[in-house]
Amino acid sequence: MTETPLHEHTFDKTQVIVERAVPADAAVMCDIRDRAWLAAYPNPELAITEADILLNAKGPNGQFVPRRIAYLEQQIAAEDGIHDITMVAKVGGKVLGFVNPSRDEQNRRRIGALYVSPESQGLGIGGLLMRRVLEWWGNDEDIYLNVVSYNRNAIGFYEHFGFEATDSVILPDPAQPSYMKSLPLTEMVLRVQAKVA
Ligand SMILES: CC(C)(COP(=O)(O)OP(=O)(O)OC[C@H]1O[C@@H](n2cnc3c(N)ncnc32)[C@H](O)[C@@H]1OP(=O)(O)O)[C@@H](O)C(=O)NCCC(=O)NCCS
Repeated sequence: MTETPLHEHTFDKTQVIVERAVPADAAVMCDIRDRAWLAAYPNPELAITEADILLNAKGPNGQFVPRRIAYLEQQIAAEDGIHDITMVAKVGGKVLGFVNPSRDEQNRRRIGALYVSPESQGLGIGGLLMRRVLEWWGNDEDIYLNVVSYNRNAIGFYEHFGFEATDSVILPDPAQPSYMKSLPLTEMVLRVQAKVA
C-alpha cells in the first residue's frame, strides 16, 4: 500500500507537537528549508531565478546538501537547550517545520532559522513555533532576525508577533562563493516592551 503524503491531509493545531530536535531530524530540516527557499525567494523583478535559489541552497552538483546535514546534526547534538536549541514541529511523527533560536556573535538573541514546509504553511505551525520560542526565552531581552527584504509573507508574519524593521544595513556575507546570489536582507527586532504574543 502506498502511504499518502501527510500534506495531502488536513490537520488542526491540536495535532501539532513542538519538541526539541534530534540529530536524525537534520535531513528533513534541510529539505524543508530548501523547498521553502524555492517557494519564497525567486524574484523576477530582481532577476533572481529558481536556478539561482537552487544553487544557493544545494551548491553546484548538490554538494552543499550532505555538508549541511552533517553541520546540522552536529549543531543539534551540541545545543544545550538553555542558550541554544532547535525545535521541530511534528504532525503524526513527521517534521513539518523547525526553528533555531540562539545567540549571535554580539551575544544578542537571534532567530537564525524558521521554516515551515510549503505545503503546510498558513495552518498554524509557524505561529506555534514562534510562541514556543518566545516562551522558552522569556520576556527580558530583545530578539533579532534577518529576513529577505522582499519576503512579504514572512515580514507580515513577524510583524504580527510585534517585530519591526531596524535601520541596520545588512551586508552580504564576504565568505559567500561568488557564484551564489546575494539576497537583500532586512533586520527585524522584537523589543522587550513590544512583546505581545
Ligand atoms: C513565515 C512562516 C514561518 C510562517 O509560518 P506559517 O505556519 O505559515 O504561519 P501560521 O499559519 O502559523 O501563522 C501564525 C500567525 O501569523 C499570522 N500571519 C501569518 N502570515 C502573516 C502575514 N503575512 N501577515 C500577517 N499575519 C500573518 C497568522 O494569521 C497567524 O495568526 P494567529 O496565530 O494569531 O492566528 C512560513 O510561512 C514559512 O516557512 N515561509 C517560508 C520560509 C520563510 O520565509 N521563513 C522565514 C525566513 S526568515
